[in-house]
This record gives sequence, structure tokens and C-alpha cells, in this order.
Amino acid sequence: MNNADSEADEATGDLGDRTLGARGAPARIAVLGAGGFIGSHLVPALARRGCEIDAVDATLAKLGPTDARVRRLEARIDRPGLLEELVDRCDAVVSLTALCNPALYNTRPLEVIDANYTDLVPLVKLCTARGRWLIHFSTCEVYGRAGRDGDGRPTARMIEDASALWLGPVHRERWSYACAKQLLERVIFASGRHHGLPFTIVRPFNVIGPRMDFLPDIDGEGRPRVLAAFMSALLRGEDLLLVDGGRQRRSFIFIDDFVDGVVRIVERRSAAEGEIFNLGNPANDVTIAELAALLGRAYRAQVLGAAPRTRVVTAEELYGVGYDDSEERVPDIAKAEARLGFRPRTPLLEMLPAIVADYIERYAPLIAARVGPVPG
Ligand code: UGA
Repeated sequence: MNNADSEADEATGDLGDRTLGARGAPARIAVLGAGGFIGSHLVPALARRGCEIDAVDATLAKLGPTDARVRRLEARIDRPGLLEELVDRCDAVVSLTALCNPALYNTRPLEVIDANYTDLVPLVKLCTARGRWLIHFSTCEVYGRAGRDGDGRPTARMIEDASALWLGPVHRERWSYACAKQLLERVIFASGRHHGLPFTIVRPFNVIGPRMDFLPDIDGEGRPRVLAAFMSALLRGEDLLLVDGGRQRRSFIFIDDFVDGVVRIVERRSAAEGEIFNLGNPANDVTIAELAALLGRAYRAQVLGAAPRTRVVTAEELYGVGYDDSEERVPDIAKAEARLGFRPRTPLLEMLPAIVADYIERYAPLIAARVGPVPG
């Protein structure tokens, strides 16, 4: 069961207000990017909490069947008049649309900047003009290469209102994404402080779970993020590629824990408004080489066969010129704990079997049909 459903309810809000639904959440919420990995988990969780949802995405295939509380709208957010209509109808907007795949940052940087900044400025302006609560998904990547305090000294964790944002030089196009995301955060913050926009910004830290990303040549092009890249290799019997030896660190949070954090924001507007929140799980901080080993073990527990192999590659071999990396990324979640009661619970070892099972179920038959039986 999703944590979002099992948590005791301590919602805030005036239930006499027509714009508030059950448990203090906004009555009608537009979710932009509802067909993506996070959206496809968030929409059902919000609907179960009693919210009416306008679920919008270019395709909603990942969302699965939904009930009468969810109005499905297959459209791009730049369709003329769409944002105006949604902002008029809804009490809050959750904005999830993004190009958030590092393989694109140095290969299609202008599209990345448009998707993560230019295309979203009109949304910020509309929410400001109509006074709608904008819950915008930014990224942990705004912190850049590693944690730094306000004076540039190394810190173990990244802190929303204290850390410096430490990006690389312009020719390292990897940072085009972080820079676009950071600029939109600044536009949202300034719209809040100077023009009354009610907002909350979420910085997700490496959320993983069923339905994340895509598998190359099956339901997407190019290179997905590390979890799907490793699952693709395991399912095809190929080497798991470790960029620069896989010594970079990431803190992985399970999608159910993450969705619980977002539901807490939606239901606690007075605690969340005007704030930026890291949502991640500092207890699941591992190197990418460790992730490969754990995932390989979880896969072998379900599919008998030879031990998965890893191979070291350079960043340039995998991503081309202009790539750069975050060395480590550990969220400080004290603010989310204190204001929202957020407590991510799922250890990496516990979440991997369900994730592996989902990829096997969705992709093994397709891979077998193309290249012969699943390696085993
Ligand atoms: C990406 C996005 O840029 C962030 O905005 C987003 O918040 C984050 O994913 C996320 O999932 O939350 P990143 O963690 O760098 O950031 O993306 P991945 O592609 O998942 O890479 C993680 C690490 O694994 C990197 O160090 C990368 O070099 C390495 N990697 C990736 C490999 O060693 N092998 C691979 O096959 C793929």
C-alpha cells in the first residue's frame, strides 16, 4: 500500500472553503505531466485522497485506468488556450513537465532549456495573475556538482535555503538543465515575493520505482537514467556501464515515499506555501557501482542465469562532449520533516524486488520477441 494512503491524517485548511476538498487539499488540481513516471503514481494517490484531477500529458499511457475524479486530457501544454483553461478551472497546478534526462542536456540543450524554462514561464504568469497555487517540480540538480555552503565550503548535505548552487562552466552543457531549472525557481520565487504568487517548489532527489523512464528501442530513444539503463542491460544480458568507475553517489528514494511527501504538501498548504522542499532519502546514499551490484542481485533472485557484468566507460564515451557529473547528492530533509511530517521509510534493498519485477513484466516479453529468449 502506498504510504500516502496509510498515513494518519493531520491536514490543515479550512474545510468550509469551496476551493478545498477533503483533508484540506485543493478541490481541483491540474497535474501537468500526469503521464510521466512521477505523475502516473501521483495522480491515483491524489484521487484516492478525494481530489478532482485534470490529468494532462501528451500521452497518458503510463497512467493506467483512472476513476471519475480524474479528467484525462491528452495534449501538450503549449496547445493554444490550454494553460488558461486549466488555470481558470483549477485551484492548484502541479507542474511536472520536463526534459529531465542527462543524455539530452549536452545533445539537445536548447530543447532542454525550452521545456524546463521557456515553456513554463507563461504558466507562472497565469498562476500569478489568477492567484492559483503553483506546486512546481524543480530538481536536486540545481545544487550542482556537490553540496556547498553559502561560502563555497563542502557540506555533507544539500540544504534548500542555505546551500550555494555550484554549476560547472558554460561549455559543460550538462548544466544547461540545472541552470534552466534554477532560473525558473528564481522567477517563481520573485513572483511570490513581489507579486503574490502562492507557490511551493519541490526538489526531487533520484526518485525510483516501477514505470521509471523507458527502455531504448522499445518505448523510447536515447539513453534513460541509470535505473532504466541498468534494467535494460540486465534484461538484454549486456554489461552494466559504470561511468568513470561508478564512484559517483546518489541517494535514491522510493516512489511511494516520494508521493507521500507530495501528498503532504498538497494537504498542508499553510505549512508548504512559499517554501522549497528537498524530497529524498538520505539513508539510501550509495555509489552507482553499489547500485549496479544490488540491482544485479535483485535481478538474479528473479531470473536465473549468469552473474551480471559491469564495464567501466568514460563519461565522454557514453554521453559525448559537454557532459559533467554530480559527484554526490545527499538531501537535507529537516525542513520537510519538521513542516510536513515527511519520513521516507523504504530502504534500497526493500524497494528493488518490486522495481525489478515491474521491468521484467513489462519488457521481458517484448525483448524476447525481438531478440530471442530473455537471458537466463
Ligand atoms: C538526473 C536528472 O538530471 C536530475 O534532474 C534528476 O533529479 C535525477 O536524474 C533523478 O532521477 O532524480 P542523475 O542522477 O545524474 O540526474 O541521472 P542518472 O542518469 O540517473 O545518473 C546517475 C549516475 O549514474 C550518474 O553519475 C551517471 O554518470 C551514472 N550512470 C548513468 C552510469 O554510471 N551508467 C549509466 O548507464 C547511466
